[in-house]
Amino acid sequence: MSSSSLTPNWPGLIEAYKDWLPVNENTPVITLKEGATPLIRIKAIEKLIQKDIKVYAKYDGLNPTGSFKDRGMTMAISKAKEKKCEAVICASTGNTSASAAAYAKRAGMRAFVLIPDGYVAQGKLAQALVYGAEVLAIKGNFDCALDIVQEMAEKYPITLVNSVNPFRLHGQKTAAFEIIESLNDAPDWLCIPMGNAGNISAYWMGFEEYFQAGKSNKLPKMMGFQASGSAPLVFNKIIKNPKTIATAIRIGNPVNKEKALAAKKNSKGSFLDVTDEEIINAYKILGKEEGIFCEPASAASVAGLLKRKEEIPESSTIVCVLTGNGLKDPDCAIKNNDAAFYSGLNPEIKTVAKTMGF
Ligand code: F0G
Repeated sequence: MSSSSLTPNWPGLIEAYKDWLPVNENTPVITLKEGATPLIRIKAIEKLIQKDIKVYAKYDGLNPTGSFKDRGMTMAISKAKEKKCEAVICASTGNTSASAAAYAKRAGMRAFVLIPDGYVAQGKLAQALVYGAEVLAIKGNFDCALDIVQEMAEKYPITLVNSVNPFRLHGQKTAAFEIIESLNDAPDWLCIPMGNAGNISAYWMGFEEYFQAGKSNKLPKMMGFQASGSAPLVFNKIIKNPKTIATAIRIGNPVNKEKALAAKKNSKGSFLDVTDEEIINAYKILGKEEGIFCEPASAASVAGLLKRKEEIPESSTIVCVLTGNGLKDPDCAIKNNDAAFYSGLNPEIKTVAKTMGF
């Protein structure tokens, strides 16, 4: 089945792509009908680049819990359920914890999530709480939380669902399948934000698998982007105190580093950092000119494309991955917009008309 057969009967990505995934008839499918997200042309970005190109956004913020993590989590939780596991654990900058909680609870499991205290966007924290996770906020960053959960999963009967869990990447690779089905080929460039670098590795796996199966004629260059204050893969060193407004990718020691570097090398791609200012600029353009509200980390893919505009070959097709929904981080939205907002108005037509300029 392809995402072009997008219908209300979409069965979720495990069922849709079962021939490409490590599942069998004994795997209980835990799904919220994730996947089949839209690929949307973003002409405002094309206009800024001023070349004969096509730019699309893969809007993965439209997954059931509002981020691409659901693609990986349907797999990780279904496989954990297959093994009769009763509890899962993850470290998270927010989205993984929301997704893990939703799928784990749906499967009747306990979900323990370790988050960096004070650095998780409000919407994500709200989700983890509502989905019934057991939330442990630590006085440390994501990298520190990940070290702890990895050790916890070794010592106790609990399954780790961070992207070191190989099933996560298999689920996430389906986004590459959907892109190829929508475009009838792979794009020339795939622009993607990187944090722990699982998603870029998953996309590359998906593009390679479809290419090898003859479903695309080419492979994209993998263009990865990190926030300047949090760019271990760009500067090739561990960042002890990562800083960025894009809290989702505030990670200083990515666990999937080797896989991401292989994706870069094998695709003849490239990594680059983007400043918080560049991220917010792209975030605002997507919102006010395209009607697409993504979270700051996601906008790094578009910010990165704009930063590389001189290098973009004419006639190319580019996909920017928008990994998470803007509603996840309302504080960032309210602080970073150019909207006209008039408050405290008298409730009368005269005032309203005058304020509107009539
Ligand atoms: N974009 C968003 C919105 C994310 O939440 C993440 C990662 C990334 C991009 C980067 O993806 O780690 O596969 O390179 N969020 C993780 C979390 C770390 O805990 O939610 P990556």
